[in-house]
Amino acid sequence: MNEPVISVEGLEKTYGEGCGRCGECTGPDYNTNVCRYCGSVIALKDVSFELYQGEILGIVGESGSGKSTIVQCLYFDLEASSGLARLFPYDRGKANILTLPQSRKRYIRNHLMGMVYQNPLLGLKGYFTSGGNIAEKLLTADIYNYHNIRTRSARLLDRTEVDLEYMDRLCRTLSGGMQQRVQISKALANNPPLLLLDEITTGLDVSVQARVLDMIKTIQHELMISMIVVSHDLGVIRLLTNRTMVLKKGRIVEHGLTDQILEDPRDAYTQLLVHSML
Ligand SMILES: Nc1ncnc2c1ncn2[C@@H]1O[C@H](COP(=O)(O)OP(=O)(O)O)[C@@H](O)[C@H]1O
Ligand SMILES: [Mg+2]
Ligand SMILES: [Zn+2]
Repeated sequence: MNEPVISVEGLEKTYGEGCGRCGECTGPDYNTNVCRYCGSVIALKDVSFELYQGEILGIVGESGSGKSTIVQCLYFDLEASSGLARLFPYDRGKANILTLPQSRKRYIRNHLMGMVYQNPLLGLKGYFTSGGNIAEKLLTADIYNYHNIRTRSARLLDRTEVDLEYMDRLCRTLSGGMQQRVQISKALANNPPLLLLDEITTGLDVSVQARVLDMIKTIQHELMISMIVVSHDLGVIRLLTNRTMVLKKGRIVEHGLTDQILEDPRDAYTQLLVHSML
């Protein structure tokens, strides 16, 4: 039986004080994530899922449904309000990584996870070269030897089809598509068992989008990395993922095999999403 890489139970994120009635007046049934009693934003409520080795899990939903909040909580960009996340490559999944001390969280980010943001310059330092960005990540993952770093950087850039002539160029001078490839190389540099990808093709030209998605599929196939792919675009979800969660107003409204969800969506909201794609 395949083992999970990460399992998440009851993940919640609230902006504001919260009041004890937040849960009963927010969510898909009320079509809002703002509590009418206290004004808090319930960005995530009771989100649970597992991701297995070598699997790509999709998270889809309209803008503001909480997709980015999930991956940002798991990558510790945001502090979760509550919930349990067990990352199996870390301490055999015994710890709740959401409540670890900062130094342990930093270790997990540096060694066990990769993140690719919609905006490449969130994941890259624009005033560093492509090679410099990757070297930085290798160093934080404790890979020190200079020649080793140069060779590994070149190999990583090659994997994302970045011509080596770009290795010594400043990232902010590159095109959006090229920056995104470099960001992906950087995210892969520490050989993470878990890669998080948030709307990574949204800002790109359509022709570039297709190539980047193709590349992600190839990388996943070759390295068998487990991935969470966030997108508002069901086309992206269909192309990349095995299983999908549909999010609405901070809650999971549907969860299952991607093919099944696309062919025969049960939830009214998912039906709407699917039909709007056709
Ligand atoms: N700092 C904040 N304060 C209050 N609400 C926020 C804050 N950041 C995000 N939100 C809200 O959290 C919800 C989920 O946002 P997000 O995860 O970015 O959605 P998605 O990625 O699906 O578009 C949205 O309603 C958003 O407005
Ligand atoms: Mg988002
Ligand atoms: Zn409330």
